[in-house]
Amino acid sequence: MAQFETQVGIVGAGPSGLMLSQLLHLAGIHSIVLEVRSRHYCEGRVRAGVLEHTSVTMLRNAGVGQRLDREGLQHAGIEIGIQGVLHRIPFEELTGKCVTVYGQQEVVKDLIARRLADGGDLRFECGEVSLENIEQGRPLIRVRKDGVEDEVHCDFIAGCDGYHGVARPSIPSQALNVYERLYPFAWLGILAEAAPSREELVYMHHERGFALYSMRSPHITRLYLQCKPDEDIAEWSDDRIWSELNARLSCEDGWRPTEGKILQKGVTGMRSFVVEPLQYGQLFLAGDAAHIVPPTGAKGMNLAFADVHYLARALRARYEENKDEGLDAYSATCLKRVWRAQRFSWWMTSLLHRFEHEPAFDRKRQLAELEYLTSSRAAAMSLAENYVGLPLEGA
Ligand code: FAD
Ligand code: DHB
Repeated sequence: MAQFETQVGIVGAGPSGLMLSQLLHLAGIHSIVLEVRSRHYCEGRVRAGVLEHTSVTMLRNAGVGQRLDREGLQHAGIEIGIQGVLHRIPFEELTGKCVTVYGQQEVVKDLIARRLADGGDLRFECGEVSLENIEQGRPLIRVRKDGVEDEVHCDFIAGCDGYHGVARPSIPSQALNVYERLYPFAWLGILAEAAPSREELVYMHHERGFALYSMRSPHITRLYLQCKPDEDIAEWSDDRIWSELNARLSCEDGWRPTEGKILQKGVTGMRSFVVEPLQYGQLFLAGDAAHIVPPTGAKGMNLAFADVHYLARALRARYEENKDEGLDAYSATCLKRVWRAQRFSWWMTSLLHRFEHEPAFDRKRQLAELEYLTSSRAAAMSLAENYVGLPLEGA
């Protein structure tokens, strides 16, 4: 058995764990990151694509903005489609801010490369991860790595291990309040070798179901289709996917997505989920370990970054000034932003998807809301300021 010492033990090398490790490094705080998957797997996991302007600033300030600035696609708005008719929501004109389209796996690659170049301690392919002594005293993380059992002793643990991780279940269930909502649909997502044929993202409401047109680079598009929650991807041939995308995304003005070789496909369930509080003893939860939003508002990775921004700031105050106020307020500070993002993601999801078997009244109300959004500056402003991201408190 090998024993290790660190100030902050971080469970999970997704966006939240890696960014936290980098922010702590910049503050002179040592951390060890423990990840179950391989580096190759983490760097190849295709997920989020939209960065709020605050996330872009955070990445730049953390010293990982170079490639993002070169390759990220700045978007000054999105298009909302209603049955093939598009309406632009001009973010920059309404809020002065833009978003940046840059794949989560690129963010993860950049953060891993930076941490390793700076001598960071990232450990991939850890098995049997478990947390002990989180309630009081010095906690420890036990892992099995290369057949050897390691103990990592720390002052604090950051649970950045996503929705299916071990950190949240290590907290006694009676200490947590869980808030959850499931949706009666999922998203079938593809990555395609096709040059984007539209400048901005298209969120299309269609009677066949919602569809989203997004992109990753000047050569790669990313598209999503609303599907059944238990959809079997094996039943979706490439031809069937393109035919459905065309049916939902083809526009009155003659535009439709350019087709190309499908490089990757998968189905993602949709849920809203929050646990409160985000702290138990010396364990702090961040990112998807603590909350999940349905992807429609593109908020998940951005919320994960906001959490670790507050956590790194609080840990810095603890180590530099012996002040605990930031750590004590961590949960409440994050939850304010989390609930705003929950509201927005729920609203975007409810607005744009087709709800089968809904009463005719609700269908009419949904269409009226879409019509209001696309014809009122005030309604568009509300979407825009939430989509580009609310300011970070005290940043
Ligand atoms: P994760 O990325 O889940 O990382 C957790 C890490 O912990 C993983 O590497 C995992 O392997 C590891 N782990 C798990 N269990 C253990 C364990 N026991 N021990 C050690 N390590 C463990 N968000 C946006 O902001 N914008 C978008 O446009 C967007 N679109 C999305 C589209 C889709 C299809 C999906 C699925 C998600 C999308 N999201 C989006 C959400 C975003 O991907 C997540 O919110 C984000 O990945 C959260 O980061 P995280 O680091 O908290 O968790
Ligand atoms: C992407 C994902 C989203 O959930 C979203 O709202 C916008 C874009 C994407 O993967 O590109």
